[in-house]
Amino acid sequence: MKHIAMLVNAKDVIATIRPEIYGHFAEHLGRCIYGGIFVGEDSPIPNEKGIRKDVVEAFRQIRVPTIRWPGGCFAEEYHWQDGIGPRENRKKMVNINWGGVIEDNSFGTHEYMELCRQIGAKPYINGNVGSGTVQEMAEWVEYMTAVGTPMAEARRANGQDEPWRVEFLGVGNENWGCGGEMSAETYAAEFRKFGAFCRDHNGNRLCRIACGPSSADYGWMETMMKSLSKGWGGYPLAGGIDLHYYTMPIHPQMDSATDFDDALHYATMDSAFFCDELLTRHTEIMNRYDPENRIGLIIGEWGCWHQVEPGTNPGFLYQQNAMRDALVAAIHLNIFNRHARRVMMANLAQTVNVLQSILLTDGEQLVKTPTYHVFDLYKEHQGGTAVYCYTDADKADEAHKAPMVSSSVSIKEGVMTLTLANCSLTEEVQIDCDLCHFDAHETQARILTADTHAFNDFNHPEDVTIQPWTAQVTNGKLQVKLPPCSVVAVAVK
Ligand code: AHR
Repeated sequence: MKHIAMLVNAKDVIATIRPEIYGHFAEHLGRCIYGGIFVGEDSPIPNEKGIRKDVVEAFRQIRVPTIRWPGGCFAEEYHWQDGIGPRENRKKMVNINWGGVIEDNSFGTHEYMELCRQIGAKPYINGNVGSGTVQEMAEWVEYMTAVGTPMAEARRANGQDEPWRVEFLGVGNENWGCGGEMSAETYAAEFRKFGAFCRDHNGNRLCRIACGPSSADYGWMETMMKSLSKGWGGYPLAGGIDLHYYTMPIHPQMDSATDFDDALHYATMDSAFFCDELLTRHTEIMNRYDPENRIGLIIGEWGCWHQVEPGTNPGFLYQQNAMRDALVAAIHLNIFNRHARRVMMANLAQTVNVLQSILLTDGEQLVKTPTYHVFDLYKEHQGGTAVYCYTDADKADEAHKAPMVSSSVSIKEGVMTLTLANCSLTEEVQIDCDLCHFDAHETQARILTADTHAFNDFNHPEDVTIQPWTAQVTNGKLQVKLPPCSVVAVAVK
């Protein structure tokens, strides 16, 4: 067994962990919205207003704080007016990006807002810059948030009297790629226009979110910060910059979600830990232009991107989700907590049946993936105060960079939450942790552990689930064992 030393200093505060760091993303892609979330009122699958009850219950259990919608690349072809009014009259379109299927727009703004209401989540609307107009986006904001205006009256005519609160407005998606193949300078100019005409109505304050870089495109971040950190009057034009980073150690077509060797397991860990370097370097750029920390860093799309499951539509991005994915989720969430000063939100791609899903559905069946259980283990971090922790950086495997243990710590209402992941395939770890400036008497621990290839499916929905675990605290020292391939949450008070 390997001993790893750790130190937590409860007085060494990073920042509040905004609940939105535990956010999600749902696109009109494959079976995410249709079948996964929305089945319609006439479905035999239990639903409220067409939205699956089992999915809502699962989302509520992990306190999903926000869901980004309607895309992704889909957002850049979406025209919101097609998705309101009587369903039978809604215009159909081809979902060009995702399998060329017909989109009937039966899930639109009202249905999305109903989903958010049922979950208790904040909306994060992503508008269309690439194939939309400034007027179209401005009117969408007016439709959702205004009172007594022509668009507000149209909303009332469609059955919603009260305006909705919309804090997060994405101004375009991946405009360096599917959102119009723009240069950073061209996009920044577009953002300024779109952002200016999307108004704050009726006391609703928009946080306008700019398309951020793909992964390590530091030049894109530099241009965004140079162009958007000071508008007329000195205030930042953007409230957030949305970076996208997927864990893809090799080409996804070569990476089966469940059938991979040890080297690929460790390469996946390396790729997940790279997110720390990314956030550090993007934050350095943001700090130079915005030392007051008024512009948040958002990781609006993250997670593992593997091969699609054999026999499924390649345009639907349906993949299984194994213990390896759970470790990737644990590593990312620990990194986001550690960067909580700058990171204001993150959205795992994507909730149900797409990429690194938290839920998989097949007709009326539903399975919680190992990744879902990580969000369950980590939920007490939401709204907590992140504090610094120092953990020995022994490597998980000699041939790779990833450390063996990933960790983060927060404190909320007198309870300290430590989340720890052991990325080794073979080595058991004993964490010996000094808790400084924290009066600790008792612990409660939970664990998720399984072979890196293990997953849940409709025949075996509980192969990988959370189990009770033990941890001891004596004289300010916490001791907890981490089996190989495990994620552990410890509550200390
Ligand atoms: O999540 C799938 C796709 O990945 C999104 O539509 C796009 O924004 C990204 O490239």
